[in-house]
Amino acid sequence: MWKLKGENISKSFGGVTALKEVNFGIKEGEIVGLIGPNGAGKTTLFNVVAGVYRPDKGSIYLDDENVTNLNSHQLCRKGIARTFQIPRPFPELTCLENIMVSIIGREEKIHNSNEKLKEAKKFLKFVDLDNYGNILAKNLNLIQKKRLEVARALATNPKIMLLDEVFAGLNNTEIRDAVKLIERMKNEFEITQFWIEHVMGVIMEIAERIIVLDNGEKISEGKPIEVARDPKVIEAYLGDTDV
Ligand SMILES: Nc1ncnc2c1ncn2[C@@H]1O[C@H](COP(=O)(O)OP(=O)(O)OP(=O)(O)O)[C@@H](O)[C@H]1O
Ligand SMILES: [Mg+2]
Repeated sequence: MWKLKGENISKSFGGVTALKEVNFGIKEGEIVGLIGPNGAGKTTLFNVVAGVYRPDKGSIYLDDENVTNLNSHQLCRKGIARTFQIPRPFPELTCLENIMVSIIGREEKIHNSNEKLKEAKKFLKFVDLDNYGNILAKNLNLIQKKRLEVARALATNPKIMLLDEVFAGLNNTEIRDAVKLIERMKNEFEITQFWIEHVMGVIMEIAERIIVLDNGEKISEGKPIEVARDPKVIEAYLGDTDV
């Protein structure tokens, strides 16, 4: 049984077909990578799954429940959290306050304010920002903003995390840390992860399965090693000089 499933998802913007009859499924506890060249439709698929856009055609199922017509707020309460390719914290709030917003928005409320604070600090520490609790989000650098984005998403208590290029532009050491973070997220919070990366490489190491989009269509799917050897995938990436 799939935890999250998309059936025949299509989405166009004016004349641009961003997604064309895309099918996918993610099992509980799996880490699935979504890759593909620039403009392949990766972010659009996340936006459709997270309720930012309605698909033109097709359906989304969460635990076999059809959730296609729910908005992002309703989907968040059902356990789908996402991060944005360009981080979107509340700039004038501190890091701790940013995480508090996610905790306050949960369906299952924490009423004791000390408990709420303790919970927020737990997520701040999880992303190694424990010394930045009182810093305004707008004063963080890009990597710190991305970490805060992960903490904010985690603090909603999700079952599924959609991670959109959270670690793009990192150096090798930072990538190692990022890999550890992903693994800890799986082990400590038992969260199912659907993870976009534009550049192959690190995702090949930790994703159990990879789905490849190109020009809005799913062109390949399988174990990382199978996908990396798939001629269709190699061809799609050869035309993309930014890899
Ligand atoms: N809101 C929008 N309005 C118009 N066109 C859009 C919109 N969002 C996406 N598109 C178009 O849909 C296509 C898929 O874009 P999308 O952002 O999903 O690609 P992506 O795979 O995430 O690319 P990248 O690796 O650059 O982030 C592109 O041609 C893009 O220009
Ligand atoms: Mg994108």
